[in-house]
Amino acid sequence: MNQSEQWSSRIGFILASAGSAIGLGAIWKFPYVAGISGGGAFFFIFLLFTLILGLPLLLAEFAIGRSTQKDAIESYKAIAPNTKWHFVGYLGLVTSFILLSFYSVIGGWIIAYIFRTITGQLNGISAEQYGIVFAETISNPGISISVHFLFMLLTVVVVAKGVQNGIEKANYIMMPALFIIFILLIIRSLTLSHASEGISFLFFPDFSKLNSEAVLAALGQSFFTLSVGASTMVTYSSYVKKSENLPRSALSIVMMNIFVVVLAGLAIFPAVFSFGLQPDAGPVLLFQVLPNVFSHMPFGILFFLAFLVLFLFAALTSSFSMLEIIVAVISKGDKSLRKKWSWIIGFIIFLMGIPSALSYGPWSDITILGKSIFDAADFLVSNMLLPLGALLIAIFVPYKMKKSVLMEEMQHGGGFAKGLFNMWYFALKYIAPIAIIFVLLDVLGVWDLLFG
Ligand code: PFF
Repeated sequence: MNQSEQWSSRIGFILASAGSAIGLGAIWKFPYVAGISGGGAFFFIFLLFTLILGLPLLLAEFAIGRSTQKDAIESYKAIAPNTKWHFVGYLGLVTSFILLSFYSVIGGWIIAYIFRTITGQLNGISAEQYGIVFAETISNPGISISVHFLFMLLTVVVVAKGVQNGIEKANYIMMPALFIIFILLIIRSLTLSHASEGISFLFFPDFSKLNSEAVLAALGQSFFTLSVGASTMVTYSSYVKKSENLPRSALSIVMMNIFVVVLAGLAIFPAVFSFGLQPDAGPVLLFQVLPNVFSHMPFGILFFLAFLVLFLFAALTSSFSMLEIIVAVISKGDKSLRKKWSWIIGFIIFLMGIPSALSYGPWSDITILGKSIFDAADFLVSNMLLPLGALLIAIFVPYKMKKSVLMEEMQHGGGFAKGLFNMWYFALKYIAPIAIIFVLLDVLGVWDLLFG
């Protein structure tokens, strides 16, 4: 869509990219994965990966997209013509396909909860009953497929309209509103009894709980929450004007993302301990805990509804970016093609998501390498494809892009001190590939094999 579309302002770009980043990853997935993977230690490693790997990689994707102003495939071709590097772009497309197929299933759960709240089914029930309602919702094939369909429908309608009209405008209102409602939630959660146990669980690391799977999960989680590794951010940054400063934008996005992760953690964990629930409850965690917190507030049900709408919005702004990268490649800036292909691709992804939607119900017995279809798809994307894409991007940028071009790209719209540039370059060229390969080999058990 070479330059035919552009964000109208810096803040538009930041909000859209932050919108892509902030979604189910920070709000729903982080708390439950942290809950399973030992709390504080996981959070600590996640933070480390986000800052030393995620941030440099985000900036690397920005550099590819903005310098070429092209989509996820053409940008690699422009930088490294007559090579196979554009396969990194195709890898991003495949990743986005699979990712959106199960992401939309979770997005659908939010819609289902909105219906249940509006129809009064979540009023005045006990902590355990919230868990039961959740299990009933996600195991019912009719419900889970219809709400998955609705979520995809919303995604397609916006992406079909185009970047500025659809995606950018909506971001302006919803993101700040989400922050505000989170603050209210946290105030309530922190003033519950035993709240401090939740704080210690989240912030005081117990490294004895950390194993190689948890470290991989933290790596995957840091890429997942920043939308790094799928060339999504290559696509979004291709719509950014040359006058914008990329390092500053990347830093704001990372900081906002960490902020939301902390907000979600602070809203959920104190309440988990206060209500005597289990932090390792899995995907149910948010859906079981938050209604409880809200039910302890005046006008709780209204606040819960507002939260769900904003949460849905956060998930949608992420799903837009996944569909956008695919549609941008196929439609090449042609408005009528964009419309048509948004619908076609959206429908294919809906069909692809059905097995994931059924995997909490009638298909729960079907497993792939011991995981449910949903978990297997999530594992494939979060813990394999995104780290692999990130690894290739970390190799591509320093080896295929000239240092002088990168320096210039970083200087637009404000300075980027030479020292900081060198740190970024070093992190990308050496730290990121080594760290990602190290973690992947660790999970494959290579270190154990070698060093016993
Ligand atoms: N960052 C999104 C979230 O945390 O919900 C998920 C995501 C979007 C991952 C786009 C990757 C991507 F390309």
